[in-house]
Amino acid sequence: MDSTKRASIYTGKNEEYEASVTSPVNIAVIKYWGKRDSDLILPTNSSLSCTLSQDDLHTKTTIRASRLFEADRLWLNGVEEQVATSKRLSNCIAQARAFRKELETNSQVVETIATKERPLSEWKLHIISENNFPTAAGLASSASGYAALVQALANLFELTLDQTELSKISRLGSGSACRSMFGGFVEWRGGESPSGEDSYAYCVAPQSHWPSMHALVLVVSDDKKGTSSTSGMSTTVNTSTLFAERVKSIVPKRLQKIKEAILSHDFSTFAEITMQDSNQFHAVCMDTYPPIFYMNNTSKAIVHLVHLFNSQLHPETNAPKGIRAAYTFDAGPNAVIYAEEQHIKELVQLISYFFPPAKAQSFRAYFPDAYKIFESSDDHL
Ligand code: DP6
Repeated sequence: MDSTKRASIYTGKNEEYEASVTSPVNIAVIKYWGKRDSDLILPTNSSLSCTLSQDDLHTKTTIRASRLFEADRLWLNGVEEQVATSKRLSNCIAQARAFRKELETNSQVVETIATKERPLSEWKLHIISENNFPTAAGLASSASGYAALVQALANLFELTLDQTELSKISRLGSGSACRSMFGGFVEWRGGESPSGEDSYAYCVAPQSHWPSMHALVLVVSDDKKGTSSTSGMSTTVNTSTLFAERVKSIVPKRLQKIKEAILSHDFSTFAEITMQDSNQFHAVCMDTYPPIFYMNNTSKAIVHLVHLFNSQLHPETNAPKGIRAAYTFDAGPNAVIYAEEQHIKELVQLISYFFPPAKAQSFRAYFPDAYKIFESSDDHL
């Protein structure tokens, strides 16, 4: 997202201003699970994710400000949500408004972008937000949702903050949202400060650094998840003994190693750490009391299939083909598989062989880019 192109559009009708943005989903390879402050949404550990392409899973949000609106209102996928009773929504809007107010009262800019005739900080907002994928099914809908909300607010209010500062605002909506403020490989530095000033996202490497990297989203179920991430992670922090060990001695080392693997295009190390961290996150969920189960039998079958794929031998030389795919699961049964472009076709063939064709249609819907590669080959389904 380009922060230099921030502007709201004057619609002319009733003196209304509007901004519209699309924000992508991100899928963590080092998981965020656990808060040290649940009001400011400060995590117990740093995390790292890959932001998917804008064309794939995303949220589109349009915000309109008008002198005539009487209240802040928000519609998510056509259904109205109560802004006033949602602390997370109110916090994000209040923060963005406060920055806008600063612009309006700052005498140096008052005559350029924030004239007294346009006190947007005082006008109410109507927000329309649409996901192009199942909401709250463990596919990071809150991440793209709050990232789109904050980016649209920043554009509407013509805020002069950089993406790192905006990531702190979107973090107040949902922790993982701060990572969707950037494309490519993104770290959320957990930070230590009680105020949250050092808890923000930044780009480790842009998508163009590793263009052959693909993410396949396998929709195992589009039902809403049973235990929300928010309540699940709070029970984990209070009850799991494995969790403390993970935060203290495992995650920092993994984070360092996976960043090195990304910077040196070392897929095999990237994949091993990704799978181990997903497995440990689900082990910690099972160590929570009462236990939380996000993966189902289909998810487990996908894990086995990926390990089978990674243990294949070359038919002529008998040499191992090596680690060519990595699974990861968030707070739900759906799988995301990272693989490089040259292996996508074989991987998709294998998955569609073991799972019914009806399910294979989900591939086309949820990873159009990968499907195009697959479809252009001679031997597609
Ligand atoms: C398993 O960001 O949804 O996807 O901060 O309470 O809104 P809140 O939680 P959320 O948690 C995401 C958890 C995860 C792992 C990850 O994305 O890092």
